[in-house]
Amino acid sequence: MLQVQRLCKEINGRPILSDINFVIEDGGSLAIVGESGSGKSTLAQLIMALKQPTSGQVLFNERSLPRKGIKSYKEWYSDIQIVFQNTASTLNPAMSLYRCLEEPLINFTNLKRRERRDKILEYLNKVGLHRDLLKHRPGKLSGGQYQRACLAKALIISPKLLICDEIVASLDIVLQQQMIELLMSIQKERGLSLLFITHDLSLVPGLCADILVMKDGKKVEQFNTSALHNEEERDIYTITLLKSTESLETTWKQYATHDNKSTG
Ligand SMILES: Nc1ncnc2c1ncn2[C@@H]1O[C@H](COP(=O)(O)OP(=O)(O)OP(=O)(O)O)[C@@H](O)[C@H]1O
Ligand SMILES: [Mg+2]
Repeated sequence: MLQVQRLCKEINGRPILSDINFVIEDGGSLAIVGESGSGKSTLAQLIMALKQPTSGQVLFNERSLPRKGIKSYKEWYSDIQIVFQNTASTLNPAMSLYRCLEEPLINFTNLKRRERRDKILEYLNKVGLHRDLLKHRPGKLSGGQYQRACLAKALIISPKLLICDEIVASLDIVLQQQMIELLMSIQKERGLSLLFITHDLSLVPGLCADILVMKDGKKVEQFNTSALHNEEERDIYTITLLKSTESLETTWKQYATHDNKSTG
């Protein structure tokens, strides 16, 4: 279970996150939704111990954030893995995809060479990538393939919690849907806990049980995803976010219809 308690982060005296509280139970899923600059990635970086909180704490299964010593960091990262928004640095450009995926197995498990190979093939298959890609450098992968490879790298050591920070933002709408479906099936199969960070509320239903809306580093509200469209209960800010994704969808559909008519 992940517990985020009274978490605050200031940078150069400016509050970036203020009093953030939430819990993700084992196998649970929470979406963090907010516009650009609301502090979503900062929150992810704090949970990944990449930044120190100004105050408050993060606990995973009663254990607090690692501060020093390789052992405590190693334990933390065997439980919690992240796929980043800007993934260009996730896979070493100088190594083959095979080596990129083998690296976490060498660092976090005692598997033998042969067992590592089986794991790599298993996870490659899980994320829907062909084994022919393993000999290539990451630079040869398309955007969608690259994201899948990053997902495989994060999942290959069987973490208990996966954090996804805007992982579909740069993909086209078809690949976005495929990625969301992939996450849903992995979550179901593995009982993985999920913290899914996005600015796009329309991606959340079906994937996450709960939604926490953030604005300017503060929690606006948290609710069950089934209550997303209950406008009487929802904060005005959440409704604005929801309407903005809906109007984008409508514009896109109108554009697509117009395009179809004009071309054919
Ligand atoms: N190292 C830093 N120094 C100064 N300000 C920072 C630093 N890191 C983040 N910030 C500020 O903190 C705020 C929150 O940034 P953050 O990246 O967490 O937002 P976000 O919600 O992830 O945005 P996006 O949707 O664009 O990814 C922003 O105003 C950003 O400029
Ligand atoms: Mg971000």
